[in-house]
Amino acid sequence: MPHFQRLYPLLAIAVLSLGSVSLAFSDSDDDDEHERNGGWLSPRADVAPVYNSIYAEECGACHMAYQPGLLPANAWAQIMNPAALTDHYGDDASLSEALRAELAAYLTDNASDFSSRTRSRAFAVSLDSGDNSGESLPRISTTAYFVRKHDELSPRMVKDNPEVGSFSQCNRCHQGATKGIYNEDQVRIPGYGRWED
Ligand code: HEC
Ligand code: HEC
Repeated sequence: MPHFQRLYPLLAIAVLSLGSVSLAFSDSDDDDEHERNGGWLSPRADVAPVYNSIYAEECGACHMAYQPGLLPANAWAQIMNPAALTDHYGDDASLSEALRAELAAYLTDNASDFSSRTRSRAFAVSLDSGDNSGESLPRISTTAYFVRKHDELSPRMVKDNPEVGSFSQCNRCHQGATKGIYNEDQVRIPGYGRWED
């Protein structure tokens, strides 16, 4: 499809200049078949990208800044609890009260249960797969939807893979993760290459 290939950069610019990708593709957007078959639609984010630069900086210091649409509001509220931030999955991620309140509001306001995007809705329904390994804080990577989507991956590809380390490192495998793009066409597992389903 040479036409589409040449159109693609123009399309991307047009979409970007609209300021909101969802305006342009609002109907066919979450249609998986479209994304898979017609590659050129893939820049459409599955989950709304992070637009809050303070959040991107503060919560992107140790791992990628997860999009708010990857967890429901009650999970973000637990994670952003002041006490929870001092013992954040084993790290101290505490913030000043003003900053904490601001970022907590950003996360809960844009949480998966308030998103119209199908991918976010999937993260909204099922909080816990029960596989929390004794941890009290919710995780994106233990939601039932996440576990189901990643059940073909072996530990050698993930936690025993020095270039990945854990499922929390979305952007090591999902090339477009920081832009909110998670479709399987853009997956490359370090040391294993492109994912062929
Ligand atoms: C000081 C480093 C640090 C900072 C700052 C930090 N985190 Fe984390 N975060 C971690 C670590 C470590 C993990 C566990 C990663 C792992 O298991 O591989 C984690 C995990 C998470 C997870 C679970 C990921 C999963 O597996 O589903 C979420 C959600 C999260 N952080 C959100 C946040 C938010 C929101 C902020 C900003 C308030 C933040 N983090 C700031 C260190 C940090
Ligand atoms: C070790 C590599 C790896 C990591 C880390 C990883 N993923 Fe994935 N992810 C994959 C692979 C491979 C698939 C495709 C699985 C399949 O289709 O069988 C996938 C699929 C997905 C899908 C479904 C895509 C589709 O088209 O159906 C979503 C959504 C997703 N991942 C989100 C995430 C998020 C969010 C994180 C971080 C919290 C993450 N992934 C971390 C490898 C990874």
